[in-house]
Amino acid sequence: MTLQYRLEPYINLLNEGKVVAFPTETVYGLGARVDHVEALDRIYELKGRPSDNPLIVHISGLDQLKRLTPWWNHPTVLQLAQVFWPGPLAMIVPRLPLIADRITGGLDTVAIRMPNHPLALALIEACGPLAAPSANRSGRPSPTCAHHVREDFGTQIPVIDGGNCTIGLESTVLDLSVDPPCILRPGNITAAQLEAVMGKPVKSASETSSMKSPGTKYRHYAPRTPVVLFEGGDDLIDVFEDDIMLIDPEHHPSGSSRWAYHYAGDYDTLARELYDRLRQADLEGLKQIVLLPMKNVHHPLYPALENRIQKIVETEKKGPSH
Ligand code: TXA
Ligand code: MG
Repeated sequence: MTLQYRLEPYINLLNEGKVVAFPTETVYGLGARVDHVEALDRIYELKGRPSDNPLIVHISGLDQLKRLTPWWNHPTVLQLAQVFWPGPLAMIVPRLPLIADRITGGLDTVAIRMPNHPLALALIEACGPLAAPSANRSGRPSPTCAHHVREDFGTQIPVIDGGNCTIGLESTVLDLSVDPPCILRPGNITAAQLEAVMGKPVKSASETSSMKSPGTKYRHYAPRTPVVLFEGGDDLIDVFEDDIMLIDPEHHPSGSSRWAYHYAGDYDTLARELYDRLRQADLEGLKQIVLLPMKNVHHPLYPALENRIQKIVETEKKGPSH
């Protein structure tokens, strides 16, 4: 795919200070060069993103760390990079003063990640580090294919089509600037995996009193269709009307409801498809989405899926915050 895909036009656009959407293994990103402040402004404007919510900087090689953080040779950073990069881990480290405030939301730290996608890596290799949030309008589910990006932005921004994202949930965000290190957003890489590499305990943001990741306080991941979490018994599996979507993490299909999706404990597929299902309910104009609970708390993806589902349901309760 990389060899056949002509990236030059997109490289030129980024170098001219434009915004381009590109695929990663987690979700699509809305990218701008880190040194083009107008393009960074445009990202916030396009997304409708609050200006205190910082962006993740995407790199293609460890040599680029030197331009971003005084911790470019910190043993923990290098250890984690060796095991998890390229991959779905964003590390929060102290920033160099040179980085645009627009990227860090004025914080003294910066989030950095090396995505595991050949098109993303080739693009960054050609343009230098790219700041990129998920390529959705603020509050909408993150995009897991090029079509989702077009749903939110129409033809306003060019999209590099890399097919479906293989993970489908945003990266694990690990704050290394605090001790003990803290997971601000759970993802595909788990606390246990991080602890095994670092040889020390890692906290979760839910265990700490202050919410340090600015993004976590905003409305998230929500479709327009109302979502409810169904906590009732197992007997209600397929008794839904035609205009209600059922998302069932645990069971096999058993009935004939039109919009019932059963994952039979396959959380990898659920993660890959969740945002697409939410968007599909909107496109089909359904009346409601009913989510059944996940039961396998030991599954590595449980914390990440649980976190996203909580946010979707919280949004329903509170309504949009901006
Ligand atoms: O998988 C991903 O991480 C995707 C792809 C495109 O790489 N990106 C993504 O970006 O999800 P975004 O902007 O939607 O989420 C980034 C999260 C936000 O919650 C933001 O507040 C947090 O990371 N963040 C970024 N920089 C931070 C910092 N310096 N301190 C604390 N949190 C930070
Ligand atoms: Mg996002």
